[in-house]
Amino acid sequence: MTIFYTQNTLKAFVEAQKSERKTIGFVPTMGALHKGHLSLVRNAMTDNDIVFVSVFVNPTQFDNTSDLEKYPRTLDTDVALLKTLGKNVFVYAPSVEDIYNSDINAEKFSFDGLEFEMEGKFRTGHFDGVGTIVKRLFEIVTPDNAYFGEKDFQQLMIIKKLASKYKLPVNVIGCEIFRETSGLAMSSRNQRLSDHAKKESAFIYKTLLEAKKKFGTKSALHVKEWVQKQFSKHPLLTLEYVEIANIKNLKTVKRKSKNETYRVFIAAFIENIRLIDNIALN
Ligand code: PAJ
Repeated sequence: MTIFYTQNTLKAFVEAQKSERKTIGFVPTMGALHKGHLSLVRNAMTDNDIVFVSVFVNPTQFDNTSDLEKYPRTLDTDVALLKTLGKNVFVYAPSVEDIYNSDINAEKFSFDGLEFEMEGKFRTGHFDGVGTIVKRLFEIVTPDNAYFGEKDFQQLMIIKKLASKYKLPVNVIGCEIFRETSGLAMSSRNQRLSDHAKKESAFIYKTLLEAKKKFGTKSALHVKEWVQKQFSKHPLLTLEYVEIANIKNLKTVKRKSKNETYRVFIAAFIENIRLIDNIALN
């Protein structure tokens, strides 16, 4: 499998592929790949002639240096996993220098308010970091189609906004959340959980499903307070937030309106590890 370590070698290869009119799919990741990532790559392979997967732990999107340091880095295993998918998958694994030169700072973005909701309230500067890296990666890889998971639904909406605001010539495609059989959303962070915590974390999805049932007949506020109560009784999980938000603008609501579509979002800690999840409500 070909691994590109620098943007210049990758750009030369992309140019040659484009001259043969090949379509390019792109899956940006921070590595420590799991089946959730691989499901995105499979979608990209179905829609495109060739697929690039970037593996880059982006320093400017971490608000916490210890989280950045502890983030798992497993390039060899990642490459081995991707190899099993097929020949038309290529890896871009740049150094921090290749992306940022010596200026490791995020640009400032406005995403029309999407960046102030939920994750934006708890992870200062996070979406500036995400916007910075994804915009640079799009400029380097120049994909026709780029794939993002609904696991990070707010990120997906922000990338769609980034592409439309900057008129980037790429289709941003959302992909379903891939889960363990227990229901726990797959995440690179799950690797850091003890077996016991991993088992207990299935409570997040179970509660989301119950919340969805309640949302049929109860107000958003009622459902939100019910979720808070369930977490307050859990011995290991600490809820950071639960929100019900309109998927159009991610504005959080207390009451639902007719003809609008909502999702419920949760962030919670277990063993000092932060997990997020969400599901569609209607
Ligand atoms: P990372 O957390 O590695 O995720 C890469 C992509 O995989 C994201 O689009 C994410 O939503 C998706 N993903 C993760 N777990 C998933 C699951 N269980 N099911 C479906 N998709 C899943 O998100 C990032 O990296 C970074 O912020 C990045 C976009 C690469 C920018 O640095």
